[in-house]
Order: sequence, then C-alpha cells, then structure tokens
Amino acid sequence: MSTNRKQTLGEFIIENQKSFQYSSGELSKLINAIRLAAKVVNHEVNKAGLVDIIGTAGETNIQGENQQKLDVFANEKFIQTLTNREIVCGIASEEEDSFISINSNDENHQNKYVVLIDPLDGSSNIDVNVSVGTIFSIYRRVTPVGTPATLEDFLQPGNQQVAAGYVVYGTSTMIVYTTGDGVNGFTLNPALGTFYLSHPNMTFPETGKIYSVNEGNYIHFSKGVKDYIKYCQMEEGDRPYTSRYIGSLVSDFHRNMIKGGIYMYPKSSVTGNGKLRLLYECNPMAFIAEQANGIAIGGKTRILDIQPTELHQRVPFFCGSRKMVEKLQEFLEKYH
Ligand code: AHG
Ligand code: MN
Ligand code: MN
Repeated sequence: MSTNRKQTLGEFIIENQKSFQYSSGELSKLINAIRLAAKVVNHEVNKAGLVDIIGTAGETNIQGENQQKLDVFANEKFIQTLTNREIVCGIASEEEDSFISINSNDENHQNKYVVLIDPLDGSSNIDVNVSVGTIFSIYRRVTPVGTPATLEDFLQPGNQQVAAGYVVYGTSTMIVYTTGDGVNGFTLNPALGTFYLSHPNMTFPETGKIYSVNEGNYIHFSKGVKDYIKYCQMEEGDRPYTSRYIGSLVSDFHRNMIKGGIYMYPKSSVTGNGKLRLLYECNPMAFIAEQANGIAIGGKTRILDIQPTELHQRVPFFCGSRKMVEKLQEFLEKYH
C-alpha cells in the first residue's frame, strides 16, 4: 500500500468516534446513512441532464414512468435511509410541512437523534448544470427516549447541534461535516463509490476578497448592508473585492471557506427576514463556519444562539471569514 493512501470516510468515522462526546457508535451509523443517501442522490443528480427526470413531480414521462423532481427524490432517499437505522426518532425537512416522527408507536425504541435536512439546496440550478447540495443538522432529542418526538426536539438553538454538514454535488462530489471537533471534507471517487479524506481540518482564511450576495435585491437592503457592499466595491488597500454568487448556499459557502469570503442573505423590504431557513440551512452552515474559524451572524446576534420558534423560520444570514464578517458588523451597528 502506498504511504500517501488517503483515509476513506468509513475509516475516518470509525477512528474518530471515540473523540465524540457521546462516544457510542450511533452517530457514526447516522453519518454512514448520510454517506449512503448522498451517493444515491449524487448518482441521480449526475444524470439529470441525460434522463428525463426533471419534470414536475407527479408528471408521467414518455415511458409512462412517474417523473420526480430531484428535490422530491433527494427528500425521499434521505428520509428512507435515515428511517432504516433505528437511531433517528424524527426528521424535519424543507420538503415536508411538519416533522416526521419515527417509531412513534414503539415504546421500546431507543432512537436518540433528530435530523433536519435541506435535501436539495440550490435546486433551481439543476436545470442549468450548476452545483447543488444537501445540508443536514443533527441534535440529541430533548424529550424522553421511547416517546414520540415532539416539536421541542426540533426547535433547539443551533448551539446544541451535535453534528452538521453538507454534500456538494459539484465538479466533484464532496461531503463536508463537523461533529464539533473541526471540519473535514471528503471527495467521492465515482469509479469506486468511495469518499476519501481530501480536505482535512478545513478553515476559513481570516480574510478574503470575495463577497457573495444577490445584488438584484440591493435597493431593498438596509443602509448598513448597502454601505458594506459599497465598501467592498471601493478602491482602497486590497479592494475592490470581487463578487461571486452561484445561488446555491452550499456552493457559495464551500467556495468562500476555501478561498476566503463573506456570504450574505440580508433581510430586505421585499423578502422580510430574507430567504434562508434557520433550522436546516443557517444553523448547520453556522456550526461548520464556527468550527472552521469563521463567523455566522443574523444581524446583531450569533446564528447559533437564536431560539427557534418555528420549523421553517427564516432569518437574515451573514457568514464567512472572520475579519470580513467583523467589518460588516461595524456597518450594521452604525445604523442601530
Ligand atoms: P433551495 O433550493 O433549497 O430552496 O435553496 C435555495 C437558496 C440557497 O441555496 C441560495 O443561496 C438562495 O436560495 C438563493 O436565493 P436567491 O435566488 O433569492 O438569491
Ligand atoms: Mn436551500
Ligand atoms: Mn432545498
């Protein structure tokens, strides 16, 4: 065996489960389930341009097969895989109005975890062959084991997450995740169907030159956000910065973590609290960001300290390289 052989995700999960605060192999099994579902979804996403599966959910294609939107497909795959493992007592998903309770009639079940997912993030990019992702967030339940999961189990602040991660279905497919002990990235070798540790200990550069925001909404932003964007565009020192916006949170975040940058989805006079969902978009990304030496805020507050009030709650989201988010904070504070 060559000495520079990369560790597989499977090996990494086993070797690192001891360092996890609750030690038992349950969380490892859970990450394994996500790995499996990610591979299946990856396979489907990759042939999206080839096979006629991009139609509206419920439509029938020319072969008489049921067409499924990829976000519906991804939702089903993740739910199926997570339900089979007898570890998860409840799942909340962007694609489901309310949470799903698992094994709620079995008083003997020992399932301790709840999972919140955005099964396909950036799904409008599918039609144009641009990177999409999956985002997941994992908590220990707060209600007693053996009872049905309740809303309380899902409405925990992000600082209670035990693990979070994302899959990016990009030029290569990667899983990036944290269990509260740094962030590691694994790249799929599609020929073997194996994820290898390609990006150990990922961290945001302290600062960067990229700002990512939907500037089409500019006129609706607050004065603080507008002024920060102008600051990014000004010629001074290492500025002007460069603007990059894919429109898939996962992909924009992933690029900024590697190159250094700031992502913004502010509140605005038209979108209210912005667009991104606290529980399965902002919280998992904020946990990863903080574990990678970055910052994630919703305005004045740290994202991870927000007490959620509803499953599909939206919050403003600013996240990225430490110095850049701190600079933005100065602008936001000027007008409060
Ligand atoms: P989803 O596809 O899960 O609905 O998420 C799309 C989100 C996020 O990925 C992206 O950053 C944002 O929407 C883009 O929104 P705008 O098109 O309003 O910029
Ligand atoms: Mn999304
Ligand atoms: Mn989605």
